[in-house]
Amino acid sequence: MRVRSADDLLRDAQQVSPALAERLVAWQRSEGRHHLPWQQVRDPYRVWLSEIMLQQTQVSTVLGYFDRFLVRFPDVQALAAAPQDEVLALWAGLGYYSRARNLHRCAQAVVAEHGGVFPRSAAALQTLPGIGPSTASAIAAFCFNERISIMDGNVKRVLGRVLAWGQDLSVKAHERALWAAAQAVLPARAEDMPAYTQGLMDLGATLCTPRKPACLTCPWSDLCLGRREGDPERFPVKGRKLVRGERESWLPWLVWRDQVWLQQMPQTGVWGGLWTLPLLDSEAALQTLLGTELLALGEPQPRTKHVLTHLDWWLNVRRVELPHDEAARALAERLRAHDASGRWVAMAELARWGLPAPLKRWLVG
Ligand code: ADE
Repeated sequence: MRVRSADDLLRDAQQVSPALAERLVAWQRSEGRHHLPWQQVRDPYRVWLSEIMLQQTQVSTVLGYFDRFLVRFPDVQALAAAPQDEVLALWAGLGYYSRARNLHRCAQAVVAEHGGVFPRSAAALQTLPGIGPSTASAIAAFCFNERISIMDGNVKRVLGRVLAWGQDLSVKAHERALWAAAQAVLPARAEDMPAYTQGLMDLGATLCTPRKPACLTCPWSDLCLGRREGDPERFPVKGRKLVRGERESWLPWLVWRDQVWLQQMPQTGVWGGLWTLPLLDSEAALQTLLGTELLALGEPQPRTKHVLTHLDWWLNVRRVELPHDEAARALAERLRAHDASGRWVAMAELARWGLPAPLKRWLVG
């Protein structure tokens, strides 16, 4: 098959425009989703919060978190003024914690640098922490009718198919070409931007799915070049495959009276800023830390696999009830030498600490 250039792509996009946008807007209004809580307002604080939460997480999971977050932080000022630990605690279980840290930093930047009012253009929104080009476009399109295209995974699939863009999207120039085509098919009327943008998301979530797309009910079926070529699932093309790694850790679950030992993860990386049991890289390191007397008291918990995007992480938890004050004191001293953030935390208060989901299951139940 002939390889199309970015110019060919743009020309094909111009040919299917304006029908593409008109059909999608009409379809979204009759068949799309209208009852999601962040769709009921054009308040950039709510739209921004929902878009960040939805980046790696399903709608059904986000719903509860979104409501709880708004009860505690009803506006950007409340979020900016909160301690980071409280933000992370409310985020615990959603994963990808850099999102929560950036969310907090972004709220502080909106308050400090923009008088507590979100900027109104995608270009300005993108300068804020944690707001990438696609999220900035979503907020600007939903709240301010800006004629700018989102470009998340769903949209790459939906537009990649309808325009049969067969170039590898892991190459930046090919992704840029698709984005230029996406700009060329936007609705002519700015006030259609919210329905159009939601339509792209809804189409990707319901009909134009990664496997077995429901082409027969798609509003674009007769325009879709991917379908015309016979195999819409072939698009989009993403060359570089993610290389997944493995990691194994040993975690002492130390209990002394009604307390448990926690330490805070560094701000960057997996579980950044959350509170965890100590993490050791080998069983030998666990033995050295505990010594033979405490090791003998350890109760191994079932080895558990925690699946992250880039990593299968095996967790070996050993529960050890410390037999006397002297053992607790000596162990605390050794642990603090490794990580100064370590401390005893009352079990009754654990729910208020930002714990990663798998540890929460063990410690809080
Ligand atoms: N995923 C990202 N943004 C979304 C939205 N506004 N509605 C539904 N799913 C989404």
